[in-house]
Amino acid sequence: MLEGYERATSVEEARRRAGAQRRIVKLASNENPLGSSSRALAAMRALGDLNRYGDDAYLEMRERLALRHGLSIENVVLGHGSNEIVKLAAETFLYPGDEAVLAVPSFLLYRLAISLRGAAAVEVPLRDGVTDLEAMLAAVTPKTTMLFVCDPNNPTGTAVEREHWGAFVDALPAGIVLVVDQAYREYASKECVDAIAGVMQRPRTIVLRTTSKIYGLAALRFGYGFADRETIARLDRLRLPFNVAAPALAGAAAALDDEAFVRRSIQNNETEKVRLAAAFGRLALHAYPTQANFHALAVPVSATRAHEDLLHEGIIVRSGDALRMPGRLRVTIGAPDENALLLDALERLAARWRA
Ligand SMILES: Cc1ncc(COP(=O)(O)O)c(C=O)c1O
Repeated sequence: MLEGYERATSVEEARRRAGAQRRIVKLASNENPLGSSSRALAAMRALGDLNRYGDDAYLEMRERLALRHGLSIENVVLGHGSNEIVKLAAETFLYPGDEAVLAVPSFLLYRLAISLRGAAAVEVPLRDGVTDLEAMLAAVTPKTTMLFVCDPNNPTGTAVEREHWGAFVDALPAGIVLVVDQAYREYASKECVDAIAGVMQRPRTIVLRTTSKIYGLAALRFGYGFADRETIARLDRLRLPFNVAAPALAGAAAALDDEAFVRRSIQNNETEKVRLAAAFGRLALHAYPTQANFHALAVPVSATRAHEDLLHEGIIVRSGDALRMPGRLRVTIGAPDENALLLDALERLAARWRA
């Protein structure tokens, strides 16, 4: 049977568990705690009639994204969230009997996309919480047709080691489709791999971005991908017509230009990241150095129990047991008041967990 995507606990469910009176803080899905760009919301409210289909080639948005990254329009594909492009890439390039290499733990959707194609997922454990590029290369066989790298990696938050990237890409056999998922790239504070530049250097490299995270538009469902012309043309053949809704286009276009909102989001994330890391240190709870908007926090009890205990405190996090990361929780960096509630709860619970 296929291993499906295990969903996060919803606010509604948390309310039932923690009691209707309690404030629920959701730190489970790596969303932007500052809300959405007001410019994006205004652009969507200003839309007129929606009775006509739009431009299925999405020329305007693709041109905008191409210009931003020094590419051409033929290098851009749009998706109903970047999730859709992950699935589209698997549908286009993976066949039954193929092998696809991926890290574990990493974003769960890769495994589902691979399995849905009847291909084999070849899993490569992280090394000290970091994507092990060397081991991934070693896992490549003549049957390998696709390889997934998540940078920064969900659920650990760690970035790919930049100093090893060039050699890794050079050594990867040319026919293999390399998917580099950069859903959290805008949060990274250290110098990271420039995967988008790699699109021009290595055909069959697909780089994915989204407006769901730093742009605060998770519910809008808009993502985009870059690759060489031929790869984009192949993806486009299987893309559903009109896969991106007009409100998503309007909202995403405004959000991508809202530099002030992005700056504020980075600032909150950076400040709170440092504060949380210091507090985790005081509580003797280990977290990997994160380049994203979440921490992978080690707990001295099972992740399932820690998740349940936090849920009773009104705080929703993601249990590592659901993410192939036992012994850890994935905790989104929230707004200052949300993080304060998290730390309060952790302080109480950590003492109980160690008793
Ligand atoms: C690594 C990674 N890629 C992609 C996505 C999905 O993004 P989207 O909302 O654009 O489908 C997520 C969302 O959590 C993610 O963590």
